[in-house]
Amino acid sequence: MTEILLPDDFVLGVATSAYQVEGAAHEDGKGASIWDVFTRTPGKTIGDVPGDAGVDHYHRLTEDIGHMRRLGVDSYRFSLSWPRLLPNGTGTPNQAGIDFYDRLIDQTLAAGIRPHVTLYHWDLPHALQERGGWPNRDVIGWFEDYARLAFDRFGDRVTQWTTLNEPIALWMGYGMGVFAPGEADPVRGKQAMHNAMVAHGRAVQAYRESGCRGDIGIVVDVWRRHPATGSRADRDLALAEEDDSFRFFFDELFGGGWSARLQQRLDATGLTPMVEDGDFATARAPLDFIGLNVYSRIVVRATDPRTPWWTSENADRLPGGNYLSGGREFYPAALSDALAVLRDEYGVTTPVYITENGVSGPDETPGVDGRVHDADRITYLSGFLAEAEAAARRGLGVKGFYAWSLLDNYEWAAAYTEKFGLLHVDLETMQRTWKDSADWYARVCHERRFAFDHPEILGPTSGLPIGRM
Ligand code: FCB
Repeated sequence: MTEILLPDDFVLGVATSAYQVEGAAHEDGKGASIWDVFTRTPGKTIGDVPGDAGVDHYHRLTEDIGHMRRLGVDSYRFSLSWPRLLPNGTGTPNQAGIDFYDRLIDQTLAAGIRPHVTLYHWDLPHALQERGGWPNRDVIGWFEDYARLAFDRFGDRVTQWTTLNEPIALWMGYGMGVFAPGEADPVRGKQAMHNAMVAHGRAVQAYRESGCRGDIGIVVDVWRRHPATGSRADRDLALAEEDDSFRFFFDELFGGGWSARLQQRLDATGLTPMVEDGDFATARAPLDFIGLNVYSRIVVRATDPRTPWWTSENADRLPGGNYLSGGREFYPAALSDALAVLRDEYGVTTPVYITENGVSGPDETPGVDGRVHDADRITYLSGFLAEAEAAARRGLGVKGFYAWSLLDNYEWAAAYTEKFGLLHVDLETMQRTWKDSADWYARVCHERRFAFDHPEILGPTSGLPIGRM
């Protein structure tokens, strides 16, 4: 048994996002988001179940913050709902929305928990979608104005900001049609992705100008592609999928534009976005931290008819889904592999937070003892946390770790079928029940130490073929 000790200043947190947990989709003046509309469109979510109710975080704020206090987390990562603050996306703010986030921030701080606020976790105001959405370049100004509003109202108390969560969701939403708003137009998809990078950069500049004191960064999910075999075709596919996903963003954020290789691919497929002078310089605004969401790796096979994209761990995944289900791979080295991309390929030494890691369970209803015994989740989180600690010890600048998620919640196109929470939520009563993983995480937070029994699977492995475990 190996005991892992966490440094005192290592941040332990939990994460959620507005659409997935808040509910109250049409209350107190909130405008509709693209997810409100998408999940009410037949055929878009598993079982056609909409997410309007989230898991009622909006009404159970005080209780949920109480759970976090009991867990002993240092930080709570949540997102603001843009249409709750600006029902039309631009224009007059909704005072009730501002009041809600004031309460959330104040109560979080009062519980001794530091808020880490994401401006955009996928819920664009529907009103802005009607004006063209993310592929319309005007989104850069809309987002900047929204960001300024958030800094102005909350920047006195919030000291950690993320502009965008996982911008690849724009490809799912505009390029593939499997996420909101459900457009399947690759040209608009790539344009949305580029516009988002410029919007991000402008928000960072706005933050610097705001006079607020704190850190700002972005969250990107890195799913490294590992070729299933040493064949040229598999290796090329792995590279191409990485270029089309996280490298599209990292090239803009850190490289000043796309690599010659990616640019060539974009040109060859007719998907090069329209870029204006200065865009790449804007997208490259210096950051205080980088958030990495790491869940696993994806093993690619050129001969697999499911390629490209969701080739990964098991054949039953919904295209574009971000969830894992039975048969998933447990691969903590994904964390070091992601860090290696930043450090070795891009030469980036900016501090890193692991802003999401976790795993879904199939059916986690409490048993006769009223408990959920989610041993897999404990193993999973302890593996990734051990990996994060090891990377911190190697001097790779890893400052913290957020478990996804505090609560079982609405998992996008998978609706309520995938449960990632430390706490179980009964969807009828919305009652919260601590799972074994919540007890485990509370012990980690309080004792700042835990056991991990498989040290042999930790450590960077980039490029290794399948079969290390
Ligand atoms: C991530 C998303 C988050 C949640 C987890 C499971 O990709 O950022 O909202 O869906 O996956």
